[in-house]
Amino acid sequence: ADPDLLQDFCVADLKAPLSVNGFPCKPEAEVTSGDFFFDGLSKEGNTTNIFGWSVTAANVLAFPGLNSLGISMNRVDFAPGGLNPPHSHPRATETGVVIEGKLLVGFVTTSNVFHSKVLTAGQMFVVPRGLVHFQQNVGEGKALLFTAFNSHLPGSAVVPTTLFASRPSIPDDVLTKAFQVGNDVIDNIKSKFSS
Ligand code: GLV
Ligand code: MN
Repeated sequence: ADPDLLQDFCVADLKAPLSVNGFPCKPEAEVTSGDFFFDGLSKEGNTTNIFGWSVTAANVLAFPGLNSLGISMNRVDFAPGGLNPPHSHPRATETGVVIEGKLLVGFVTTSNVFHSKVLTAGQMFVVPRGLVHFQQNVGEGKALLFTAFNSHLPGSAVVPTTLFASRPSIPDDVLTKAFQVGNDVIDNIKSKFSS
């Protein structure tokens, strides 16, 4: 979903003093082979958290060589029972391949239709751009997933934290009306995310 490139590459200068739609390129004379390789996805993430999951991003911020190439990846680790909570990527379609374990993978269309399937190693899925989706580990052991995006910075709006853990907070009045529950329920949910 990112715009087309006008040159071979544009290794990001993440510290450049100006801001553009993307990052400016570092001078080609300073580009090295190292700019085109990244080993940040080789290690298992720490899944000791409320969701039992970990996302390690290989986007332009972590891997500046991706700048303006319209592509990036994630590594997603799941503890047994772990959940990559419902979220959406405003700037990219996502595809993924399960490497290990058994994952319930699903997304909801803008017509409110839920599409889901349980996938095991080697099986793939796609999530159309912007749609809310999740993966849950429904196997016995750990699970491992690699995902890819057609943006160097897909962005992620995580539904539970967007709604219940923003700073400042969304007013309770908005959330009680939206979810048709009382303040106690909203405060209880908000309390789960205040650490
Ligand atoms: C999975 O949904 C991911 O965003 O990597
Ligand atoms: Mn995703």
